[in-house]
Amino acid sequence: MQRWTEVDRYIEDLFALDDEVLTQTVESSRAAGLPQIQVTPALGKLLFVLARSVGARRILEIGTLGGYSTTWLARALPDDGHLTTLEIDPHHAGVARANLGRAGVADRVEIVVGAGRDILDRMIAAGAPPFDVIFIDADKDGYPDYLERSLRLSRPGTLIVADNVVRGGDVAMPGHTDPRVAGVQRFNEMLARDPRVSSTIIQTVGDKGYDGIAVALVERG
Ligand code: SAH
Ligand code: DHB
Ligand code: MG
Repeated sequence: MQRWTEVDRYIEDLFALDDEVLTQTVESSRAAGLPQIQVTPALGKLLFVLARSVGARRILEIGTLGGYSTTWLARALPDDGHLTTLEIDPHHAGVARANLGRAGVADRVEIVVGAGRDILDRMIAAGAPPFDVIFIDADKDGYPDYLERSLRLSRPGTLIVADNVVRGGDVAMPGHTDPRVAGVQRFNEMLARDPRVSSTIIQTVGDKGYDGIAVALVERG
């Protein structure tokens, strides 16, 4: 076992990050044939801590899968809080719906099935109020579009977090031909250049190998 996989286990045990509900969510997602690409428990807990830190009442997630990260974020909400999560694959959405029901957070989570870009455009057109936290974790080539639209659904104080922005180090290779790498590179450049946000990228190693997350605070609209 890789050293950092051992350490991920150590962190999970130490902080008791694998309760019955979360374990069942991972298990049922695996049984339903979903790819095992949910955030690690340690990153799930970080999402929870970040959402708590900003007192999040309205959360947006792009990329639901089986609802694992959704559960961590929903648990950070107050009773009257709300989370909207976007998922293009109806099978994933169905598995997530069942998992979120078992997790006892279905009352505060709405799963919207469709292409993230289109749903975000509809939300913007409908004048949706800003979100407090936005977690971007869907198709990687869509990240630039998701960032642009997320900023339009933000206010000063909104926290934007994006998963998989290092991709084994590929992002540091200029002119990468993989559209997923190119999408993340453009996303990172957009974040870095945008005067409205304070942001950085944290490299991560663990269960899922070598990757990273971007964290951005919207300072002005
Ligand atoms: N956030 C999840 C993992 C998401 S995996 C977790 O950590 O638990 C990425 C998900 O994005 C997949 O379920 C995939 O079906 C979905 N997806 C891919 N393209 C999409 C699109 N264009 N719009 C919305 N969701 C998309
Ligand atoms: C993939 C997507 C993810 O969100 C992730 O965390 C890891 C891998 C993927 O599409 O391969
Ligand atoms: Mg991810």
